Amino acid sequence: MKLRIATCLTLPEPDPDAVPLADALARAGVAYDLLGWEDPTVDWSAPAPTVIRSTWNYALDVERYEAWIDRVAAAGPLFNPREIVLDNLHKRYLLALEERGLPIVPTVLVERGDTGDLSTLDLGDKRFVIKPEVGAGSLGARVFEAPGQDAMHHLASLTARGAALVQPYFDSVEDYGERSMIYIDGELSHAIRKSPRFAGQSEMVSGPYSIADDERELALAALEPYGDLLYARVDLARDAGGQQRVMELEFVEPSLFFGKKPGSADRFVAGLIRRLA
Ligand SMILES: Nc1ncnc2c1ncn2[C@@H]1O[C@H](COP(=O)(O)OP(=O)(O)O)[C@@H](O)[C@H]1O
Ligand SMILES: [Mg+2]
Repeated sequence: MKLRIATCLTLPEPDPDAVPLADALARAGVAYDLLGWEDPTVDWSAPAPTVIRSTWNYALDVERYEAWIDRVAAAGPLFNPREIVLDNLHKRYLLALEERGLPIVPTVLVERGDTGDLSTLDLGDKRFVIKPEVGAGSLGARVFEAPGQDAMHHLASLTARGAALVQPYFDSVEDYGERSMIYIDGELSHAIRKSPRFAGQSEMVSGPYSIADDERELALAALEPYGDLLYARVDLARDAGGQQRVMELEFVEPSLFFGKKPGSADRFVAGLIRRLA
């Protein structure tokens, strides 16, 4: 059964992992088809293992995407596994992390259909972020100076379609940066820095950076309950006091920035082959 790598028909942005992954698969002699998850000509129910990669337009139709996950998971092994992926599509998993006692970027969840009165939130006079609960590539993520009309309007436009998150804006994303801890086949592999990015902007990354002790500790603690994953990414940001907090856990389709760490794509492929054996 030939491996399927899932992408989307119209990539919203280039995939930095595409070439390193293709090269690593070729080195390992693994044959595969690269297929759009939303391609109507593909029979995703045919038995085969599937690796999710750049399916980055799913937030536009998350119900269809969830149905697709069910379908491919029934057809063979899915990486990451179905329950892991389904849970990770909705950023309310952050609140579960918080319940486990882990530091997260402070988050207020406003449910779908809820008007969400920003004046009841303790936003002070600081900048804050409103973003959709289901999102990728900064889609719908905007930063506001004050809880006025503009912010209320954005929140209402998001909650008309799904839940939304309201968070304080972390200034550290501008200097130390949001740091992505990349985990491959049971180990933290490398870290990169992402420049601040809001709706309509493009992604800028640098690195690799060494992983600080507090970053390693928090990333591993956040991942601990999820077991032995082929891949994951833990995005962290430092609060005003310098404490690391989880901004995002990425188990669905994170860029893993293989190009920043020689050998990392080969480790990914080796882990995949071992899991399929
Ligand atoms: N609370 C925040 N403080 C500062 N920047 C933020 C905050 N939340 C989001 N951002 C910026 O918006 C980007 C997208 O938000 P994120 O939660 O990572 O959603 P996604 O990557 O799924 O679109 C982040 O990479 C970061 O640049
Ligand atoms: Mg992100």
